[in-house]
Amino acid sequence: ERANMDLIFYKYKDRVAMLPKEKGWSTKNLYLYQGFWHQSMRKVSVESVMAIQETFRAHPTDIYLATVPKSGTTWLKALMFALVNRNQYNNNSVSTHPLLVSNPHICLPYIEFEIFKTTPTYVDAHSPRLFATHMSYTSLPQSILDYGCRLVYICRNPKDVLVSLFNFENKRRDKSFDIMTFDEAFELFSKGVMVNGPYWDHVKGYHKVSLENPENILFLTYEDLTRDTANYVKQLANFMGCPFTEEEEAKGVVQEIVSLCSFESLSEANKHGNLAKGLPNEVFFREGKVGGWINHLTDEMSRILDEITEEKFHGLNITF
Ligand code: A3P
Repeated sequence: ERANMDLIFYKYKDRVAMLPKEKGWSTKNLYLYQGFWHQSMRKVSVESVMAIQETFRAHPTDIYLATVPKSGTTWLKALMFALVNRNQYNNNSVSTHPLLVSNPHICLPYIEFEIFKTTPTYVDAHSPRLFATHMSYTSLPQSILDYGCRLVYICRNPKDVLVSLFNFENKRRDKSFDIMTFDEAFELFSKGVMVNGPYWDHVKGYHKVSLENPENILFLTYEDLTRDTANYVKQLANFMGCPFTEEEEAKGVVQEIVSLCSFESLSEANKHGNLAKGLPNEVFFREGKVGGWINHLTDEMSRILDEITEEKFHGLNITF
């Protein structure tokens, strides 16, 4: 896989060198490609987007999860995996359920990761294949759009995304870098400079197509999912083509899935172990709360982000 990655990085080297760049959060630079900022020489990167656009082939039955980083990706990965596979595993078993012995990011991979594998794990998987991506709608590979594959999108209020990202990036940044201050993170975020940002453009892109195409795109918010988890999980199951039967509802399977994928359950299961490159599993679980930004943003920062959000989301029915 390493050799394959190097080949792909090398293939796009000249194209990447031509792109506008900005300071990165945990990498030296971010590069602007098709209107969005990307890392380079990483798995989630401008090179992976280019390679996906050239070589990734969707299947008509695929279901994709798309997110801006730190918007609830891990939670939704868990829920989608748990729903589709609910008859295959014991949803209560701490010792055997893949989500409790592994990590949601292993159970439901990013296409940005798959593209580097010499033998992608999911090529022969039973349908529906599940994938996640941080790519913007405009950058999705043509085959996903041509087949009209189902897409689940989750977004989260920008202030909590900023705080979550700040904490995450500081944990995974190279030790040779200076620690990033929150002021600096705020500056970059407000300018739209973050992995797969601008945040607002990413959300707007998917929101627009979800209105045009509600049967293909389910648009969710972290806040709604937190407030009314069971109802949204049922909606998600319907959308994914695996609705709960009356019998399942009566047996409490909805609650079983909700509990299996809860912050408490997954953060406990991910206390130990590492993902690739030594990133501890636990970095994907911090607080899991709505509105935690209040402890980190000054009134002035909050006001500025409110203004940007109001201007960017003006006339759109996006509420958190
Ligand atoms: P905080 O940093 O605010 O706690 P992503 O998965 O897109 O990277 O987003 C990470 C955020 O989702 C983190 O937010 C993390 O704690 C939260 N999270 C992870 N798993 C969750 C779960 N099962 N339920 C609710 N929130 C979860």
